Amino acid sequence: MLVARRIFALAILATSACAQSLMEPLSIWPPGPGNVLVPQAPDQELTEMLNQIDPARIQAIIEKLVSFGTRHTASNQTDPVRGIGAARDWIAEQMRGFAAASNGRMTVSVPSFVQQPTSALTNATVVSNIVATLTGSKEPNRVYVVSGHYDSRVTSIFNNIDDAPGADDDGSGVAISMELARIMATHQPAATIMFAVVAGEEQGLFGSAFMAQTLKQQGADVQGMLDNDIVGASKADDGTIDPFSIRLFVSGLPPTNTAAQNNELASIGGENDSPAHQLGRFVAEVAQNGVTQMNVRTIFRPDRFLRGGDHESFLDQGFPAVRFTEPHENFAHQHQDVRVVDGVQFGDLVEFCDFEFNMRVGKVNGAAIWSMAQAPGTPKNVLIDTSVLTNNSTLTWDVDPNVAEIAGYEVVWREADLPQWNRVIEVGLVNKVTVLLSKDNVQMGVRAVGKNGFKSPAGFPLPN
Ligand SMILES: *[C@@H]1O[C@H](CO)[C@@H](O)[C@H](O)[C@H]1NC(C)=O
Ligand SMILES: *[C@@H]1O[C@H](CO)[C@@H](O)[C@H](O)[C@H]1NC(C)=O
Ligand SMILES: *[C@@H]1O[C@H](CO)[C@@H](O)[C@H](O)[C@H]1NC(C)=O
Ligand SMILES: *[C@@H]1O[C@H](CO)[C@@H](O)[C@H](O)[C@H]1NC(C)=O
Ligand SMILES: [Zn+2]
Repeated sequence: MLVARRIFALAILATSACAQSLMEPLSIWPPGPGNVLVPQAPDQELTEMLNQIDPARIQAIIEKLVSFGTRHTASNQTDPVRGIGAARDWIAEQMRGFAAASNGRMTVSVPSFVQQPTSALTNATVVSNIVATLTGSKEPNRVYVVSGHYDSRVTSIFNNIDDAPGADDDGSGVAISMELARIMATHQPAATIMFAVVAGEEQGLFGSAFMAQTLKQQGADVQGMLDNDIVGASKADDGTIDPFSIRLFVSGLPPTNTAAQNNELASIGGENDSPAHQLGRFVAEVAQNGVTQMNVRTIFRPDRFLRGGDHESFLDQGFPAVRFTEPHENFAHQHQDVRVVDGVQFGDLVEFCDFEFNMRVGKVNGAAIWSMAQAPGTPKNVLIDTSVLTNNSTLTWDVDPNVAEIAGYEVVWREADLPQWNRVIEVGLVNKVTVLLSKDNVQMGVRAVGKNGFKSPAGFPLPN
């Protein structure tokens, strides 16, 4: 069947070539075959889910988290009202309540381990994550993770006593994992979604490292991780308000690459086409629309200077992972003792949060995670033929293991200095195609189109 469809693909190709020469003089941008890429819009089911994200619930979650006083990683683990243990138990209980409505599809676990002392942690400490797993109906081993961290801190990283409200850092991210878990529990994605709330972030990304390592050891095919950390405030310290944009930090060369793999990427100009870049492009495509009302400002950098986050734990295991952070951080509200100095309030207090903004960031996450989990997986083993000098480009890739759900494939492309895919060539249900497009001049990727209309992130071709 695949061979027969290849002929069909070449026929389309010939049509594209004609269209190009008749309708698109090279002086008009963008030149070349295919059509303008129209971003995927949320379908009705997804739109309804996104519209259920409730700013009042986000507020209640953050206020409850703040009520535990401190959620420092080394704070009390057994006191029922104060400390990280009480927070852990409350989050787990809430998640179990959401799972109860899932008809068995969602399960909640509290994976724990003993973190040995480090330069940032005085004593050996039990670190516990809370993970609500909504198992995929078609491909349970293909996994997407949305995560926030529930531990908090003040000025001293060792201070496990004083109030550390952690409303924005990172009650805001926890609220997104919890709201999406609540809403999506009653729906059925094709691939698995994990709604994670992790600990030990402030002292060294302990909880997320444990989660990513565990998934790697289990052989899970993690194709996307969204880290939400400081996503709850929209107002800058100069009073500027920017409630309709969110920064998305997208890392370049994967830390798991060997020097030889990095050299190969550099040799073909692939530095801006890492799996995390493709994940970032996908998020920007599916999450900037009238339903989310958000702009996604993609920044090609692993994180802000001097900062890191839980996405790095997933990158370290070779998984694509990206980080959301609000557009204007106020450093007086982060990692600070709660105090007033010269009339200025320091501390990560709930009064600085914008729950409507937090809701819209939740919509961005919901659009991205659900679209990925409903779409086919990212095409694997995408290769470009470099054996002969030609103006055409021949691409090959592995047929999806779940091919019964695939309607076909698309080659996406862009001028090499543009951030986002903006052209698309439909090529049919094939695993090899030659496009009338020179690999010398543009960047190309291959994405899968599901019979349900959802389209995967792009796989970037390496030289064969
Ligand atoms: C934690 O809180 C419990 C209950 O209040 C108390 O009995 C225990 O001593 C506390 N543990 C530590 C290490 O402070
Ligand atoms: C570490 O353990 C020692 C000995 O049990 C205890 O006195 C100290 O308070 C602990 N420190 C922290 C930060 O928990
Ligand atoms: C490749 O394209 C260039 C124009 O872009 C043309 O001059 C050249 O002849 C083409 N080469 C082949 C082998 O078709
Ligand atoms: C490759 O490109 C040339 C023009 O450079 C074209 O004449 C030829 O038909 C193309 N081959 C295929 C297989 O598309
Ligand atoms: Zn944080």
